[in-house]
Amino acid sequence: MIPIRTVEVALGARRYPVHVGPGLLDRLGAEVAALKPARRVVIVSDENVAKLYLARAEASLKAAGLTSTSVVLPPGEGSKSLATFGRLVETILERGIERGTLLVALGGGVIGDLAGFAAAVLLRGIGCVQVPTTLLAQVDSAVGGKTGIDSRHGKNLIGAFHQPRLVLADTATLETLPRRELLAGYAEVVKYGLIDDAAFFAWLEENGPAALSDGEAARIQAVAQCVAAKARIVAGDEREQGARALLNLGHTFAHALEAELEFAASLLHGEAVAIGLVLAFALSVRLGLCPPADGERIRRHLARVGLPVTPPPGLARTKLIERMRLDKKVADGKLRFVLARGIGQAFISDAVPADALAAALDEALAVPA
Ligand code: NAD
Ligand code: GLY
Repeated sequence: MIPIRTVEVALGARRYPVHVGPGLLDRLGAEVAALKPARRVVIVSDENVAKLYLARAEASLKAAGLTSTSVVLPPGEGSKSLATFGRLVETILERGIERGTLLVALGGGVIGDLAGFAAAVLLRGIGCVQVPTTLLAQVDSAVGGKTGIDSRHGKNLIGAFHQPRLVLADTATLETLPRRELLAGYAEVVKYGLIDDAAFFAWLEENGPAALSDGEAARIQAVAQCVAAKARIVAGDEREQGARALLNLGHTFAHALEAELEFAASLLHGEAVAIGLVLAFALSVRLGLCPPADGERIRRHLARVGLPVTPPPGLARTKLIERMRLDKKVADGKLRFVLARGIGQAFISDAVPADALAAALDEALAVPA
């Protein structure tokens, strides 16, 4: 039997465990009951995940003496809208909640962000348990308390920091995840190696393909290592006043690409992150900060596993830069980038010359996709 790995997010009185391993969904009831919530729990999920896992989640809660009601939303980034969020909170209020009610977010990053934000604002804040079912959500979005929705002005512009009480990352749920979604999450896995852990990136070059196919042990190892890295960064900088911004490596580019494509399903968030990682290193190389060989190694690894490494065709550099100016990461009107001096040596810079950014984008946009 594969043991469950547990990582703690050390936030004083608000600390919480992240359990990682196969079969955790069946422990949901016992784990939630231990938090002593109001008897009725609200599960938020999407249609795809609900079909696969809602009945098991409900049964586990029931076995632990809890009842549940569920709200099932349409899948996809389009649900991270004010309209869907409004419907979600009104529905939850209609069902009746109290301060002790716990919301369970059962799904990927979209559900985690929506349910987490609902928990942050309902009755001025109720508890939330994250049960991430995508690789991206297990290694990133379910941990750390960033919640929110998109605006027509850009991604994740409306939201709140609201830490979960508990995270259950059941790695067996990844077996039903479409390959394309698994790969998209893998871009965020690679990100951790590139930020500050060159040895992890080297491990991924060796073991990443197994983690993405039938290598259960490699997959669990990868998820647990990413969760540990994220927990460490969040515990040191919960509100992104410093080092947490490193987790945005590649994301200034990624969010601009996604917004410019109007969050179309043709480019998943994690795919945009893969392209963003390549662009962040290309910019670092162009600025003379990073050895070209490191940029090439990253591009090679991402392409080898099947991730996109160049922006989709038809995008204009000026429009992308306009999008970047609307991003949350602008400080005093200056764009902030995560750059790198090499693999595992990321740092934050708000001093990127406009001509270098333009040239890096022009170069990437000129490459046939
Ligand atoms: P997602 O939630 O849209 O899930 C991807 C697809 O997989 C959906 O169609 C979903 O229904 C389906 N799915 C989920 N689990 C499944 C399973 N086990 N089996 C079969 N199908 C399954 O996308 P995502 O990639 O998980 O999350 C992307 C979102 O996360 C973006 O909105 C992004 O902004 C957000 N995000 C947030 C943070 C944060 O810190 N809050 C960090 C990174 C990303
Ligand atoms: N996904 C970036 C963060 O949580 O800070």
